[in-house]
Amino acid sequence: MWVNTMPKFIINGGRQLCGELMVQGAKNSVLPLLAATILCSGTSVLHNCPKLSDVAASMNILKHLGCLCQFDAGSITVDTNNFKCSRIPDKLMLKMRSSVIFLGAILGRCGFATISSPGGCELGPRPIDLHISSLKRLGVMTNEKHGFIEFYAPNGLMGNEINLSFASVGATENIILAAVTAKGRTIIYNAAKEPEICDLCNFLNTCGAHIRGSGTDTIIIDGVDSLIGCEHNVIPDRIVVATFMAAAAITGGEIVLNNINSSHITAICSVFEESGCDISIFDNKLCLKSPPKLSRVSTIRTSIYPGFPTDAGPILLSMLALSNGSSIIVENIFENRFRYVDELKRLGANINVEGRVAIIEGVDKLSAAYCRCTDLRGGAALVVAGLAAKGTTIVDDIYHIKRGYEKIDYNLSLLGADIKEV
Ligand code: EPZ
Repeated sequence: MWVNTMPKFIINGGRQLCGELMVQGAKNSVLPLLAATILCSGTSVLHNCPKLSDVAASMNILKHLGCLCQFDAGSITVDTNNFKCSRIPDKLMLKMRSSVIFLGAILGRCGFATISSPGGCELGPRPIDLHISSLKRLGVMTNEKHGFIEFYAPNGLMGNEINLSFASVGATENIILAAVTAKGRTIIYNAAKEPEICDLCNFLNTCGAHIRGSGTDTIIIDGVDSLIGCEHNVIPDRIVVATFMAAAAITGGEIVLNNINSSHITAICSVFEESGCDISIFDNKLCLKSPPKLSRVSTIRTSIYPGFPTDAGPILLSMLALSNGSSIIVENIFENRFRYVDELKRLGANINVEGRVAIIEGVDKLSAAYCRCTDLRGGAALVVAGLAAKGTTIVDDIYHIKRGYEKIDYNLSLLGADIKEV
């Protein structure tokens, strides 16, 4: 008989989460930052890096490209002096979608790159058409064969004006990485404004780049000849903050989160407050007290920053499964972000999905069950529900969760949860 030996979380739910935690560095910031080190001569050091499988995958790509890199006590040191190769092998590319972010950096470094179509969460078709069309505006030519795409800039990268039809985070990052050492000026209109874009631009400017306007929808990049590696602190992970807030709220607990950046989570906090949570923020510390019973909230519409982030949608949907009344989440970013809902229903959640709209009818209680992660944030949503469900919940295929959460079981245990990896 085939026995599924994949790691799982075993959760004995129903315990109130109370306590204090330090929030990890942002996965979606450290990944483009690791790619950006390729553009810098010498050594870069990134502090406050989370120990994640996506970070390990990115470090493997850097090593494959000839860079020296090591992870030590939350800091990653990258030495790119031996950078020698411009092709990322299939197996590394398929590990995660954000591997496409190496494209712009490799092109910026050597003018030639070969990648295959990226992997990542199954959130619907995740094309890279905006990446490719934007890079072509910078003088890049492409040649597609055998599932790989060759990118090359015969006359070097040239600055240009680029209008993004959608404020794609990854495409904005790739354009920035390709433009910082291009000849002349690049202007990105309708650029993504996420905090991770600002973090990337702050790092690059410290290394000697000339980037203005990050955090707005128009980013101006004046190409420079070279960048020199530097030290940088990665911003806190705003989605991990939302996850621990939801874990406390759904169990009627009370937590303090340290090392947060409150300006990154205003849309998230307003939903928690509407559900009855009491939130107070002092500098980089957030305190959340949950109500005896969560209230329904008005329709949540995910959108680009600073709107409600799509990545926090699954987590809040899971929390609202136990609220009184019905709430609606409209997913406006990804085609198919509700694959985890069927798994959530195994725990007794009452949710109806119609295309991009999920209607959550709050129930009085959730009951433990076996469930499987479908993607990173959907997996986190199952853990949140399992913490509140009466009985022993088994969450399978937790490799999805390990892509984005550092030691989530250890951290939840610090808050009093009964969760173990087996
Ligand atoms: C980044 O993905 C994040 N990943 C995602 O987080 C996040 O959900 C997303 O931004 C939106 O905030 C990383 O930063 C590694 P997009 P990205 O390009 O860059 C479509 C997580 O859980 N699109 O803004 O891939 C695309 O299909 C992950 O941490 C095109 O059509 O997001 C999607 O519908 C999940 N063509 C939408 O835009 C393109 O060329 C958003 O994509 C590019 C994107």
